[in-house]
Amino acid sequence: MKMKLAIAGTGYVGLVTGVTLSDVGHTVTCFDVDEQKIQILKQGTSPIFEPGLEEMIRKNTEEGRLSFTTKPKIAYEEAECIFIAVGTPEGQNGSANLQYVERAAIAIAKHAKNNPVVVIKSTVPVGTNEKIEKILYEYSGHHLNVVSNPEFLREGSAIVDTFSGDRIVIGASDKAAGDRVEAIYKPLKLPIVRTDIRSAEMIKYASNAFLATKISFINEIAILCEKTGANIIDVAKGMGMDKRIGEQFLRAGIGFGGSCFPKDTNALQKLALDYDYQFKILSSVTEVNHEQKKHLFHKAKQYFQDLNGKKVAILGLSFKPNTDDIREAPSLDLIQELLLEGAEITVYDPIAMENVKKIYGDRLQYASSVSECIEDKEIAFIVTEWKDIRDTSFATYRKLMREPMIIDGRNCYSLEEAAKEHVNYISIGRKPVFFKKFQ
Ligand SMILES: NC(=O)c1ccc[n+]([C@@H]2O[C@H](COP(=O)([O-])OP(=O)(O)OC[C@H]3O[C@@H](n4cnc5c(N)ncnc54)[C@H](O)[C@@H]3O)[C@@H](O)[C@H]2O)c1
Repeated sequence: MKMKLAIAGTGYVGLVTGVTLSDVGHTVTCFDVDEQKIQILKQGTSPIFEPGLEEMIRKNTEEGRLSFTTKPKIAYEEAECIFIAVGTPEGQNGSANLQYVERAAIAIAKHAKNNPVVVIKSTVPVGTNEKIEKILYEYSGHHLNVVSNPEFLREGSAIVDTFSGDRIVIGASDKAAGDRVEAIYKPLKLPIVRTDIRSAEMIKYASNAFLATKISFINEIAILCEKTGANIIDVAKGMGMDKRIGEQFLRAGIGFGGSCFPKDTNALQKLALDYDYQFKILSSVTEVNHEQKKHLFHKAKQYFQDLNGKKVAILGLSFKPNTDDIREAPSLDLIQELLLEGAEITVYDPIAMENVKKIYGDRLQYASSVSECIEDKEIAFIVTEWKDIRDTSFATYRKLMREPMIIDGRNCYSLEEAAKEHVNYISIGRKPVFFKKFQ
């Protein structure tokens, strides 16, 4: 059954949702309050970097199923189902800031005329969907059904994740409203989990908190590997082959960033406190992550006590590869620490550089390739494992750096390679490899 849909918010989640649902045949109008974003989208360009997204925007716009507007009336008036996918950034005391969701709900209440189901895709604390139902009633004068449908896509593989996700969660108190949302997703042929509203809201936070816990756990094991002489790659492999544990999210690194894990772990802790409960595991997860983001910096300090005036390269700025998103990215923590030490920093990222330029301006140098970034530097930090960074050979570092000292936060190389190629190589959860100078 093809439906007329509207999406509130054309960020990573809203845009991908709107574009993919139009691709399976629904007619979708995407609404955003950001005029500039909508202008860019109307020209068939994507305001965010997401593999495959721009092509899909053009195709569905040309075929007449996808449109963009800044006018709420155009988006909401005739829609049968309206997805709210606006941001829920961290607010006071770690809680989720719900002002954008509430504003979206008020606009929907004022303009919707086709008795739509309102679907909340934004990540919101337990109880929010019920609050939104009340706001809709207050501003429209009649009852509109609200369905919780949290999103699990990952930036960098958002399109693939939408078409081949593990599950779609639909939490509804009204069966017919839940059925309507289920029908929208039917063409994707993915497993559907139907729950009550509060459980759906909790599934999202519990999933993100669990994944964040896995990351902080393996990062602490990596620290112990460094101290004891074990190798984290082998340890993670041996653990991950146990099906009860699973191999994913066992890659030690320099901590989690991005727009979700940091704020969602904080929001869940705040939610727990609101219910007079202290979520003890999660406070440790956050604390470990905070420390882990400084790991590369501490390593550099360990080997070069004085970083003042040191020429350093930072390779990779986005919080993970294949996205331009730098929200809470570990690169920002490293840049901050190095600036305070007086290091001379050159950065490179294939996509996210402009976003970093907006923050740091001319306090950093910007290189247009890995080679340009590392040339003549004393230390190269690998922060994000983009393909061109991963593919850079040790021979290139040897050729271009004064005396290669590579501090790799993503374990891109094997220790055998490093030893063979005569570089100084420090990674996460493994023994350092020294060619000379630091031996
Ligand atoms: N980014 C992810 O990987 C991801 C994954 C799963 C869930 N989520 C959740 O999805 C939600 C959206 O995240 P995002 O990363 O897409 O956010 P984003 O910041 O990229 O985009 C939010 C968009 O909403 C727009 N907006 C704000 N107020 C609006 C209003 N009243 N009406 C219409 N548009 C409005 C903004 O202009 C912006 O374009 C958040 O709750 C987030 O936690 C994000």
